Amino acid sequence: MSHPRSAPIAVVTGGAIRLGRQLCTALAARGYDLVILYRNSADAARELERQITASGRQARARVVDVGVETQVAEVFAEIARQEGRVDLLVNNVGNYNPQHITRLDPAVWDATLAANLSGAYYCCFHALRLMPSSGNIINIGMAGLEGARANVLGADYFVSKIGLLALTRSLAAAYAERNIRVNMVSPGQLDNSVDLPPPDEIGRTVPLGRAGALDEVAQAVAYLLDAAYVTGANIDVAGGYRL
Ligand SMILES: NC(=O)c1ccc[n+]([C@@H]2O[C@H](COP(=O)([O-])OP(=O)(O)OC[C@H]3O[C@@H](n4cnc5c(N)ncnc54)[C@H](OP(=O)(O)O)[C@@H]3O)[C@@H](O)[C@H]2O)c1
Repeated sequence: MSHPRSAPIAVVTGGAIRLGRQLCTALAARGYDLVILYRNSADAARELERQITASGRQARARVVDVGVETQVAEVFAEIARQEGRVDLLVNNVGNYNPQHITRLDPAVWDATLAANLSGAYYCCFHALRLMPSSGNIINIGMAGLEGARANVLGADYFVSKIGLLALTRSLAAAYAERNIRVNMVSPGQLDNSVDLPPPDEIGRTVPLGRAGALDEVAQAVAYLLDAAYVTGANIDVAGGYRL
C-alpha cells in the first residue's frame, strides 16, 4: 500500500496513445500523478509511464477492458490500495468503427456500447467511491451532440456519445451536493481523425477551416478543471463543426 500521496490522482482510460496520451501528458504537467488505463497498447503505455515518471510525476499503467465490469472493479480496487483515491477520471475510450446503419453488425453495436458507454459508467461508478469533494469527471464526447440528429454512418458511436452526454448530466446533478463536477469535452475533427477531409476541403464542414490539435482538447479539459462553477456542461472543441 503506497498512499497517502500529496499530488492529485488522475485516471485516464485509453490513455496510452493519441488523444489519451496527450491528456495524460498535459495532466502530469499540471501536477497530477497518473493511472494510465490501456487495453492493447502496452508498449506505448509503458513508454508514457517512463516519460511521465522522468518528468517528476508518478505514473502507473494498467491494462483493462473497460467494457467488462469485473475488470473495472478490480482496477479500482487496486487504485484504492495503491493510490488511495481518484481526484480526476477522464473517460477517453471512444471506439469509432463506422458502418452504415442498414448494415450495422449487432456485434459491433454491442462492442461499441460496452466500451464507450457502459465502460464509462463502470469507471464512474467505481471512481466515485474513491473521489473526494472537489473531484472531477470529464467524459470525452463528439461534436454536435446537442439536438437529436440522424447519423447513418456510425450510429452505434453516435448513440454511445449521446448516452454519455445524458450520463454526464445525470451524474453532474446527482454529485453536485458532494461538490464533484462532471463535464464533457467534445472534439470534432482532430488532426489525427481517421476520416479527415483534405486541407482544401475541410472548410466545407469545419467553419474555422482546419482540423483541431490534440492540445486544443487538453486546453478545454484544463479550463473545466479550473472552472469551479461549471458542471453538467458539454464543450465542443470543433472549429464550429456541426453547428
Ligand atoms: N480523434 C478524433 O478526431 C476524435 C473526434 C471526435 C471525438 N473523439 C473522441 O476522443 C476520444 C479519443 O479519440 P482517439 O481517436 O484518440 O481514440 P482511439 O485511438 O480511437 O481510442 C482510444 C483508446 O481507447 C482504448 N480502448 C478501446 N476500447 C477499449 C476497451 N474496451 N477497454 C479499454 N480501452 C479501450 C484503446 O486503447 P489501446 O490502444 O490500449 O487498445 C485506444 O487507444 C474518443 O472518445 C473519441 O470518440 C476523437
